[in-house]
Amino acid sequence: MYPVAMRFATKALRVGQDLDPQYMAVIPPLYQSATFGWQDLDTTPKFDYTRCGNPNRNTLEQVIAALENGKHCVAFSSGMAAIVAAFSLAQAGDHILIAGDIYGGTFRIGEKYLPKQGIQVGEFCAHNPLSINDAVQPNTKLLIFETPTNPNLRVSDIAAVVKIAKQHGLIVIFDNTFASPVLQNPLDLGVDIVVHSTTKYISGHSDVIGGAVITNNDDYYTTVYEWNKAVGAAPSPFDCWLSLRGVKTMKCRMDVHCKNAQAVAEFLDAHPRVKTSHYPGLLTHPDHQVARRQMRAFGGMLAFDVDGTVAQARKVAESTNVFLLAESLGGVESLIAYPPLMSHATMTEEQRVSKGIPPTLLRLSVGIEDAEDLIEDLDQALKAAFA
Ligand SMILES: Cc1ncc(COP(=O)(O)O)c(C=O)c1O
Repeated sequence: MYPVAMRFATKALRVGQDLDPQYMAVIPPLYQSATFGWQDLDTTPKFDYTRCGNPNRNTLEQVIAALENGKHCVAFSSGMAAIVAAFSLAQAGDHILIAGDIYGGTFRIGEKYLPKQGIQVGEFCAHNPLSINDAVQPNTKLLIFETPTNPNLRVSDIAAVVKIAKQHGLIVIFDNTFASPVLQNPLDLGVDIVVHSTTKYISGHSDVIGGAVITNNDDYYTTVYEWNKAVGAAPSPFDCWLSLRGVKTMKCRMDVHCKNAQAVAEFLDAHPRVKTSHYPGLLTHPDHQVARRQMRAFGGMLAFDVDGTVAQARKVAESTNVFLLAESLGGVESLIAYPPLMSHATMTEEQRVSKGIPPTLLRLSVGIEDAEDLIEDLDQALKAAFA
């Protein structure tokens, strides 16, 4: 048995990961099996069919639950599957609230799919928790938000949102993908359900698509688990095995992501061709004080607004060598993204601008390379765009 009060990095390595009883393997074996045998018909096996459960998935779920200070975790085949599973707590006739500043995929589910199921969707502003009072309706069941936000890196006060939401009896869902459990644990702040795209910092190596739902509530857990089982959104055993390998180094990876992002943000902040560098670790960031209070460090994500034309901003994105031009985030390699054609492509230009996403904004997922190489790469890309 592991000690109850282990700290984060120790939990990541030890929870659910005792020596394999058969051969004393240090690493949990991969159970790449769709089905499991029954001893006899009177004894239901612990695992019978991998859509419903699998030893690799079970280990990953135990670790993620422990890292989010939660009682239950359900692992999914993607972050979107995890978010939709959390939305399954609402049903036809219910109304839900989605924060205005949210991942494009979550926005798409709210705009295109939930209304087809008879679920009405409204919007609120997580930076102004009192906006919940205006947006809430008698049939509002739940709300979802995230911070830091994508792509603007605004930081809202999680406990303040929870406080107002609870005055209206809402279930509070929080997407903790951007911060990762290393930097904040929203369940400790009163959130009911945490969702993750484990594709990002939890797996950390850009080689898995996965998701997770974490909660302390037994009923929410059962609903989410049953939804996963019913629709078949289970992750593969190998993806769970890879994610578990990633989890082990999450804390040290995050330390470097944060250090590098701070250095890159400061460089961009001082650059004459950059209008704004959006990073909560900058003293000039509008939410720096909230971030300082709420997060253990400021994260690996940042965005910057190029002080030039749209063509010049696009040229910056196309001119980096160390930063790869690609969607996604949270992997060890640095990525540069252009939100209008990538994460926020589902929104119209008008919707993007109203959410503070100008067509000159570029988003960075800062990896764990040498910070000097990252800075030199951005410097030469900015020079190329303004030559
Ligand atoms: C904040 C956030 N939540 C959820 C998702 C969806 O995750 P996935 O791509 O694993 O389905 C993403 C994907 O980029 C994301 O950035």
